[in-house]
Amino acid sequence: LAKIEIKLSDIPEGKSVTLKWRGKPLFVRHRTKEEIDIVRSVDVTTLRDPQRDEDRTQKPEWLVVIGVCTHLGCVPMAGLGDFGGYYCPCHGSHFDASGRARKGPAPANLEPWITL
Ligand code: FES
Repeated sequence: LAKIEIKLSDIPEGKSVTLKWRGKPLFVRHRTKEEIDIVRSVDVTTLRDPQRDEDRTQKPEWLVVIGVCTHLGCVPMAGLGDFGGYYCPCHGSHFDASGRARKGPAPANLEPWITL
């Protein structure tokens, strides 16, 4: 297994950083309480890829996902899009702060990497 060390104290609340893991971007996001409250209040039955935020994270303040769009593999941008999470500029997919696909052509959520 490839090992990666992340100094979480360097990531301020509300920020997302991008690391590299096995040649892929890895998004590590220190979520605010407001972001957590919003993503946890979503009715998952309305999602195209229904997943509870609680099942994508262990500690609610940390989201770690593979930064590869599930549409055709572009790298989304953090902090943009209609749902305050990530936005993929290639064809306009929007992901929320749990990395879940909310709008646009992405058929599935960003893949969770590990839970912290
Ligand atoms: Fe992201 Fe198409 S590759 S929307």
